[in-house]
Amino acid sequence: MEEAIKIWHHGLVARWWAEFNEGGEDVEYFKRAILASGQPALDAGCGTGRLLIPFVRDGLDVDGSDAAPDMLDWCQKKLDSEDLKTQLHAQAMHQLDLPRRYQTIVICGAFGLGGTRDHDLEGLRRIRAHLRPEGRLILDHHIPERSASQGELAAGLSAPAADKSTGRRSLQPWPEHGDHRRAADGSDLDLRVRLRNFNLATGIATREICVRQFIDDREVATETYEIDICVYSIDALRGLLESAGFSEIRITGGLEERPVHEGDSLCVFHATR
Ligand SMILES: C[S@@+](CC[C@H](N)C(=O)[O-])C[C@H]1O[C@@H](n2cnc3c(N)ncnc32)[C@H](O)[C@@H]1O
Repeated sequence: MEEAIKIWHHGLVARWWAEFNEGGEDVEYFKRAILASGQPALDAGCGTGRLLIPFVRDGLDVDGSDAAPDMLDWCQKKLDSEDLKTQLHAQAMHQLDLPRRYQTIVICGAFGLGGTRDHDLEGLRRIRAHLRPEGRLILDHHIPERSASQGELAAGLSAPAADKSTGRRSLQPWPEHGDHRRAADGSDLDLRVRLRNFNLATGIATREICVRQFIDDREVATETYEIDICVYSIDALRGLLESAGFSEIRITGGLEERPVHEGDSLCVFHATR
């Protein structure tokens, strides 16, 4: 499996993450999970370090890995700015090959991205191989049955419409207004996302992102990327973890130590090597 995965975490998108994605209640949740499950830990799909940097700042022994070099560049810059040290590895999960073995591996918002179900299975096998005996994987999961993806499944049944200006076919048009924010250097970034395609046969949603940069209201850059997202039900993801060899799979609801409830859109998988 040497082919590139399709993710959108490059260039201005990576910059958007670095500038605007900070904090969140999951940071404390995963920190407590690492303290309970043990160190050293790996944050796989660490991105620009939203979780990793607070972990390292708090003295945890956590390395980071990610498929997107641009995300890791931002992460390294942030680490350097605080004189924090850890190991960052530019590797996709299905190609993970690191020198260290971990007591805990956390994956937050980074599973099922960029490839196929085969990539994901291989990714979980590699994650498992990087755990110490009795080591734990802690993986958050947005439940498609109870989130916007259900609408996407329905949308996948209808034919994509062609974009008037570009002729590209897409299930959704670009939203009329983007998320518009001022960046640290004083330029403005505008981000829009749309669903391009949902493949009912493979269960893969393709989303498209466009970030435009403005200086004094003049557009100076536009970057557009796509990402493939494998959509998993809770049962399908449990099955994938079992196929990868994990045992004692426990699923908790929200970011709490309790079973999954009817209204939950997020759950967390805890699995032992
Ligand atoms: C939504 S961001 C989450 C980043 C970070 N975990 C957080 O919660 O802020 C997803 C990250 O996963 C990375 N990623 C996507 N697919 C990946 C893969 N197959 N292997 C490794 N990293 C991947 C992306 O490059 C991106 O940095």
